Amino acid sequence: MIHLCTRDSRPLEHVNTQYRKTAMAAHNGSQLKRLILWTLGLLALKNMSAVHSISTSEKQLYIVYMGSNKIPHALGITAETHSDLLSSVLGSAATGKTALVHSYIHGLNGFSAMLSASEAAQLSEMPGVVSTFPSVSCSLQTTRTWDYMGVNLDGESWTSTNFGKDVIVATIDTGVWPEHESFDDEGMDPIPEKWKGECETGQSFPEFYCNRKLIGARYFSEGYEAIWGQINTSDPTVSLSPRDTEGHGTHTITTLGGSRTTNVSFQGTGLAVGTARGGASNARVAAYKVCWPGSCQTADILAAFDMAIHDGVDVISISLGASAIDYFYDSIAIGAFHATDKGILVVAAGGNSGPSKATVSNGAPWILTAAASSIDREFLSDIHLGNNVTYSGPSLNTEKIDPNVYPLVDAGNIPAQNITSTDARMCGPDSLDAKKVKGNIVVCVPGDMLGINYPEVEVYDKGGVATIMVDDELKSYAQVFRHPAVTVVSQGVGSHILSYINSTRSPVATMTLSLQYLGIPAPIAAKFSSRGPNVISPDVLKPDLIAPGVSILAGWSPAASPSEDPSDIRTFQYNFLSGTSMSTPHIAGVAALLKAEHPDWSPAAIKSALMTTATPLDSKHNQNSHGDLTWGSGHIDPKGAIDPGLVYNTTSGDYKLFLCSMNYTDSQIRVVTGTDTAHVTCPKARVSASSLNYPTIAASNFTNTITVVRTVTNVGAPTATYRAEIDNPAGVRVRVSPDVLNFTPDTEVLSYTATLEPMDTQPWLKNWVFGALIWDDGRHRVRTAIAVGPTVDSPFF
Ligand SMILES: *[C@@H]1O[C@H](CO)[C@@H](O)[C@H](O)[C@H]1NC(C)=O
Ligand SMILES: *[C@@H]1O[C@H](CO)[C@@H](O)[C@H](O)[C@H]1NC(C)=O
Ligand SMILES: *[C@@H]1O[C@H](CO)[C@@H](O)[C@H](O)[C@H]1NC(C)=O
Ligand SMILES: *[C@@H]1O[C@H](CO)[C@@H](O)[C@H](O)[C@H]1NC(C)=O
Ligand SMILES: *[C@@H]1O[C@H](CO)[C@@H](O)[C@H](O)[C@H]1NC(C)=O
Ligand SMILES: *[C@@H]1O[C@H](CO)[C@@H](O)[C@H](O)[C@H]1NC(C)=O
Ligand SMILES: *[C@@H]1O[C@H](CO)[C@@H](O)[C@H](O)[C@H]1NC(C)=O
Ligand SMILES: *[C@@H]1O[C@H](CO)[C@@H](O)[C@H](O)[C@H]1NC(C)=O
Repeated sequence: MIHLCTRDSRPLEHVNTQYRKTAMAAHNGSQLKRLILWTLGLLALKNMSAVHSISTSEKQLYIVYMGSNKIPHALGITAETHSDLLSSVLGSAATGKTALVHSYIHGLNGFSAMLSASEAAQLSEMPGVVSTFPSVSCSLQTTRTWDYMGVNLDGESWTSTNFGKDVIVATIDTGVWPEHESFDDEGMDPIPEKWKGECETGQSFPEFYCNRKLIGARYFSEGYEAIWGQINTSDPTVSLSPRDTEGHGTHTITTLGGSRTTNVSFQGTGLAVGTARGGASNARVAAYKVCWPGSCQTADILAAFDMAIHDGVDVISISLGASAIDYFYDSIAIGAFHATDKGILVVAAGGNSGPSKATVSNGAPWILTAAASSIDREFLSDIHLGNNVTYSGPSLNTEKIDPNVYPLVDAGNIPAQNITSTDARMCGPDSLDAKKVKGNIVVCVPGDMLGINYPEVEVYDKGGVATIMVDDELKSYAQVFRHPAVTVVSQGVGSHILSYINSTRSPVATMTLSLQYLGIPAPIAAKFSSRGPNVISPDVLKPDLIAPGVSILAGWSPAASPSEDPSDIRTFQYNFLSGTSMSTPHIAGVAALLKAEHPDWSPAAIKSALMTTATPLDSKHNQNSHGDLTWGSGHIDPKGAIDPGLVYNTTSGDYKLFLCSMNYTDSQIRVVTGTDTAHVTCPKARVSASSLNYPTIAASNFTNTITVVRTVTNVGAPTATYRAEIDNPAGVRVRVSPDVLNFTPDTEVLSYTATLEPMDTQPWLKNWVFGALIWDDGRHRVRTAIAVGPTVDSPFF
């Protein structure tokens, strides 16, 4: 499993130095592991985390989770109660106060503090404490690249929702660029009265930046500062305020709820021209900033959830993630649990660790987990070679070099002194001979060294005209580079180009401006999108839904580098990015529209509506994918979701039983759910997570017949008759009883059982297989995806 998140990410300056050093080491012949450069500029080099581990006696930032603030003994909790508890372990009131970093009191009960491992262990034994765990740093779930697209919501069916009017949507992210035109509030009504949030002032963020569109903005830096020291307010690249200097937060919040802005295009070039708007363009937005250079601490994220619950938001979109861990040790799962309990739907990014299985994170069943797919648009530029052969590749080439023809060189043939040809071809820092780069188009094969922007930086630093990068993975989407004339081609095309260079005395080429192509087969699941099964609870299918997350154009912070190269000082109002970070606010935006249409629906009902109306991806265009483990119920269908017919609702009792299936003790569950003793006793018999009333049915370790109960609520016409249609997974027979559901005005809620029985052929011993149960009343098709698979410890899991 890929660790998206390490406890010890470093602030940006350190990272960049390390990044440079590592890149150099690669040229000195050492094995270079794959580098992943996140939007933030944070470098997560997988084998680098060992470099700065924290010693056990040292104090670290811990989160002490004490469950719900609803239970009687927790009522009236204050920061005081927390520092008293802390003092009882640390020995003095003064040390208790100093050690306390956050007090979570609004939406849940708990605190964070600087503790040694043994102090943390002592606290975890205290009554009322559910769990104690170190704060870790989360990553932004962005790869790189994009175009704006937005789920197509034009049409009459949306007028009743008024595009989310009065629904309050929030992001927990890198903050917001408040002057962005997407926050124009012209014509908006006064702020809904239920809003209890505020616009926190801070460095370069006076309160007047909030308006009727951007109604709230807060920042949470205590956890980060407890670890890394005070934020340097003289550093112009950081702002101790809700202001976004990274770009990611402005991108996600404008996707989620940006106002309509006409005639937007990439850098005003006419590329991707159109009207930009968020999914819920009339919704009110609020930004909760938790990311600082190099790190988004989970202790700060939990504080953001705590305040968002207090403030009265309706939907939370969080494009951050850490490795999958037990839910009571996972701040996002905990924050989302209490948000859901208060009627707030939480949509979270599933991660960018695909295409391997078992990589999905943020997979708690109360979260709506997002996967990412392409849209029907591509940006390509052509490379014409001197032999009249033309290739094309993804590119956002806005610099005109066409029709001039330039010499074409293989970077492997122009190494700098003491650099081998193999290393030169990767085009790392100072690997090329400047004299031979100048005035040429250079072909680089970065190979395993996915530093991404350094081949083009090296070529342009040394005076090159354009760069052709050979990389199969990057080939799937267009990306913004420091210098515009860059095209990416596949390994196959790359070797044709290299052999053309080798075949002639004076190889030449030209590169055209990028053009937009529509009608590309879509959606295709992004290779980077994390896959199920969910390692923490494999009997709940994850991710839940797939939505656009490749080449998305949305608002950007002019203070941020558009290409993630710190030397890139261009200012952009809109930028392209790719990732499950981008699909998350698309889904959250549609959820906000449903909330506007159906204000009384629970988060589970909204989620069910989105899932049972989703469209599974076409396997013809998605070969070598892992089916439902990649896209869950399928691609979001906003129009279908508004009128789903039936919904799978979830009560707090359902979650209690689910927690029993997770092996938590009665007392832990009592504290978490905030119910009294009498109501929480886990059944003696083992509870299966498969029986949670979820809009999909999943069973890992499927060896014997299993029966699950599901309960559906009619939200369509009061009288309706639904009949079951079954699409059996390979090697499984599904029986449904009853197979007809008659709803009347008096019978809104009905249950059925689904029995999954193994047949003689059993492909699921080796792989996951998928089917579906569809309830059809002639007007609605309520699709419940079914997934069965091998044991967790099987190599095929
Ligand atoms: C804070 O930032 C300023 C401006 O970049 C820099 O000159 C100064 O050295 C920094 N201070 C610290 C303590 O890093
Ligand atoms: C749209 O923007 C382009 C480029 O910025 C500009 O040339 C054009 O006149 C604009 N069109 C309208 C209708 O405003
Ligand atoms: C390429 O095409 C042009 C015009 O179509 C032609 O004049 C030229 O001879 C061709 N070159 C090669 C190498 O085929
Ligand atoms: C190249 O290597 C030789 C021998 O190791 C060394 O003397 C020389 O300084 C190196 N040149 C450069 C430019 O690094
Ligand atoms: C270039 O051609 C020579 C001789 O035909 C061959 O040995 C060499 O491998 C080729 N190099 C590349 C990069 O294709
Ligand atoms: C779902 O259950 C909640 C309580 O758990 C209830 O408030 C709501 O009305 C139910 N139905 C729908 C469609 O949300
Ligand atoms: C559940 O608890 C049992 C008994 O305490 C233990 O053996 C098992 O490993 C636990 N399972 C999980 C998933 O934690
Ligand atoms: C899988 O199921 C078998 C039999 O039903 C059971 O003995 C085994 O413990 C299960 N394994 C896991 C990992 O749950």
